[in-house]
Amino acid sequence: MENYILKVENICKSFSTVEVLHSLSFNVRYGEILGIIGENGAGKSTMMKILTGIYLKSSGDIIFEEQKIDLKKPVDAKKIGLSIIPQEFNLIKDLTVCDNIFLGSELRKNRLLDKELMKKKTKEMLKVLEVDISPDEKIENLSGAEKQMVEISKALAFKSKILIMDEPTSVLTINEIKILFRLMKKLQKEGLTIIYISHKLKEVKEICDRVMILRDGYFVTEKKIDEITLEQMAESMVGRELSQVFPKKNKPSDEIIFDVKGLTVPGVIENISFALRKGEVLGLGGLVGAGRTEVSEAIMGLRPVSEGEIMVKNRLVSIKKPADAIKAEIGYLSEDRQGSGIITSFSVIHNITLVSLPSYSNNTVNWIDQNAELESGKKYQKLFNLKAPSLKTHLEFLSGGNQQKVSMAKTLDTKPDVLILDEPTRGIDVSSKQEIYRFINSLVREGISCIFISSEMEELIGMCNRVVVMQDGKVTGILEDKDINEEEIMFYATGIREGGN
Ligand SMILES: Nc1ncnc2c1ncn2[C@@H]1O[C@H](COP(=O)(O)OP(=O)(O)OP(=O)(O)O)[C@@H](O)[C@H]1O
Ligand SMILES: [Mg+2]
Repeated sequence: MENYILKVENICKSFSTVEVLHSLSFNVRYGEILGIIGENGAGKSTMMKILTGIYLKSSGDIIFEEQKIDLKKPVDAKKIGLSIIPQEFNLIKDLTVCDNIFLGSELRKNRLLDKELMKKKTKEMLKVLEVDISPDEKIENLSGAEKQMVEISKALAFKSKILIMDEPTSVLTINEIKILFRLMKKLQKEGLTIIYISHKLKEVKEICDRVMILRDGYFVTEKKIDEITLEQMAESMVGRELSQVFPKKNKPSDEIIFDVKGLTVPGVIENISFALRKGEVLGLGGLVGAGRTEVSEAIMGLRPVSEGEIMVKNRLVSIKKPADAIKAEIGYLSEDRQGSGIITSFSVIHNITLVSLPSYSNNTVNWIDQNAELESGKKYQKLFNLKAPSLKTHLEFLSGGNQQKVSMAKTLDTKPDVLILDEPTRGIDVSSKQEIYRFINSLVREGISCIFISSEMEELIGMCNRVVVMQDGKVTGILEDKDINEEEIMFYATGIREGGN
């Protein structure tokens, strides 16, 4: 008989009248790393939230170490050793690392907070994880990877037996991912069981022992990792064969639509120049930290530029704030959808029309054409295959990937001539990625020009007419058509080669 640490039996979950998990059953073995994959909205995060007491199940049983358990709130799960690193981090910005780790489970001596002990324990934990952060550092001063280490410490602070990681690598650089994987292997050796959720199938293949696939709230299959190929994983997720991933590239015209000359933000980016042609997809490549996001922020007026000029359709434009950029017909999808992309307490529709609202009013005060808003909402829902209970649903109730699609719709609704997309497919499942690729392709065919920032080489290679490669805040090379390949991009991204054109 198999020895299971966790058995999930016939779990159903409904939100109001909508059932999103349908009699889901699966087992987790002692000490394994179990991958869970599935399209956006498949129910991965919901299942994990049930296992960690964040959501209540509607029916079904959870059996942990041979005991039926009843989880009513997060501490119930924490106490028996079930912890989670959530998809969207759950840290309080202006508290310290130490305060965050012990939040809600503070250590006390004679009923008083034992600050010294908590600090000491925090230090020990960070040391085990081999990270160099002070327990007194405020969360807002940490990088994405450091925040994640704090989430891991928080999860491991209470003798975890199962650690659930929901999309842990989406904010990490290649190197940080390596460190994380090493840590996971180490924790596994020490007896920890890990549930690992990701859209990056290659990473799942690399780190997991077994993989389970969900689709629309149903269990599809589970396989030992060496008994399933990447293609089979992707196809089980979407339930059909996947067609060609990238559409045929558009041939841009010679007309220059957008021209950046010598853009400089002191200490951040230096002397950035490139031109964008009508109907072109221009990639910005480079390793995380190369300054690609900073370039787009400088263009959008989000960073003070000391030198340089921006021409849109041969006209010099002065952009001091995002509204100036929108007026110059530049649309921007930021990489940080939670921080600046969307408002989770607003509905799908109101997020979509957030920036373009003036175009839904006839300039009289207090009058918005709600029918037109609804029509737009429906259009984008169809376009992106958006899964939401209704267009009036608040964004907080949508899955991570579906929130990203809304964010993209919001950017497009400003009907820009130049579209800057920063990591538009991060956290998005394989088939939705294809939809986004096809959509970008149809936009450039209509004459819109696109700046495309991506950390995924395949995307840059499959989508772009040219790729501007950056390192350390500078442009190190510009690759064109046939010269765009993984090797060339890496050469310039790492600074081995410079000055290509
Ligand atoms: N609090 C909630 N209220 C209503 N519906 C919800 C809520 N949380 C999730 N849902 C719905 O449940 C379904 C599953 O969502 P879930 O977040 O589990 O998906 P996921 O597999 O994690 O997707 P992703 O890969 O996009 O993160 C979605 O249709 C979502 O809209
Ligand atoms: Mg999720």
